[in-house]
Amino acid sequence: MDLAKFKFPLIKNRLETGEFYYFCASEPKYKTKTLIATRAFLKHHPMDKILVIGAAGQLGSELTRALADQFGGDQVIATDLRATASSLFPYCRFEVLDVMDKEALWTMVKKERVTQIYHLAAVLSATGEKNPHFAWSLNMDSLLHVLELAKEVGLDKIYWPSSIAVFGPSTPNVNTPQFCEKNPNTVYGISKLAGEGWCNYYFEKFGVDVRSLRYPGLIGYKSLPGGGTTDYAVDIYHKAIANQPFTCFLSENTYLPMMYMPDAIKATLDLMNAPKESVKIRSSYNLAGMSFSPKEIFASIKKEVPGFEINYQVDFRQSIADSWPDSIDDSRARADWGWKPSYDLDSMSRDILKHLPTFFPPQF
Ligand SMILES: NC(=O)c1ccc[n+]([C@@H]2O[C@H](COP(=O)([O-])OP(=O)(O)OC[C@H]3O[C@@H](n4cnc5c(N)ncnc54)[C@H](O)[C@@H]3O)[C@@H](O)[C@H]2O)c1
Repeated sequence: MDLAKFKFPLIKNRLETGEFYYFCASEPKYKTKTLIATRAFLKHHPMDKILVIGAAGQLGSELTRALADQFGGDQVIATDLRATASSLFPYCRFEVLDVMDKEALWTMVKKERVTQIYHLAAVLSATGEKNPHFAWSLNMDSLLHVLELAKEVGLDKIYWPSSIAVFGPSTPNVNTPQFCEKNPNTVYGISKLAGEGWCNYYFEKFGVDVRSLRYPGLIGYKSLPGGGTTDYAVDIYHKAIANQPFTCFLSENTYLPMMYMPDAIKATLDLMNAPKESVKIRSSYNLAGMSFSPKEIFASIKKEVPGFEINYQVDFRQSIADSWPDSIDDSRARADWGWKPSYDLDSMSRDILKHLPTFFPPQF
């Protein structure tokens, strides 16, 4: 084990959690003492080893990078069904893994001495409606594989994302509270609500330290969306930079809760780094960033791209959007582990329009 290559955040993370006195590794004069302290600490505390499942998706491709920055690239294994995704991970190891293959998952976790799993693989809302039984089976069975593994092997922490799709038509739709009536009407939402129940069950019954966030629609520029109802809010920027009109599949006044990807990554890491006792909700936390309609995101983009045009052709995703909240009350996340978003609609639009052409050159 070559301790000399570890960066400061890893050492800080390990030593702080062990209440161990540490010297700052970034200060050359303290480096030797830091390594001695680290060696002594690691003798009694194995290092974090992070397994990301579904790492090649919209969230995973950015979250995996952030995890590698925190723990060191050597400590992170990115996995996905898609072998072609290996090029996304030059900074850490990539392996093909089907989370439905329980044997392969258990073998990898034991062989690699994994301590934390970020389980991101899922069929999303719009795609799930096209093949509901498959969506249920992937979303549910895979979570149960991971939770059972965590219980049997004694993993340190599990992260599993939920969604605003757990809410439904009878949920209060403005400032939707953490605890309220939920009657999801998509198989995706049903699977996320059941998953939240399983997470809470494994925490209560077996002490599995599983943590979860109910993400709103995630908007990023580094990857393409994976078949959700909020995908329009990513696609619209691709049309804007290509100077092409955008056809929106939701009506102009459909408000939905949304979040810029850097905020989603920050929330995830904040939750996972929070002390165990601060994480008081073990089903899943409400999480809010911003709330806007297609008309408003169009107006925000038009400030930067004056000639941009939009038209509307509503499809089956409208009824899914109509059953979801307009906005979310995330006061429990703010109170329990200090959540606070950084971006609003205009600052997000400016940032995306600035960076998107580098990642996805416009298709004219
Ligand atoms: N993107 C959003 O707006 C959003 C909002 C709320 C919640 N979430 C949740 O966040 C998580 C990640 O979402 P995303 O947008 O990145 O999804 P995505 O569809 O972009 O990525 C999912 C990844 O999982 C992989 N995958 C599929 N089946 C697999 C299997 N059997 N084994 C291993 N990998 C498999 C896919 O190849 C893909 O790379 C999901 O659980 C989703 O429900 C996302």
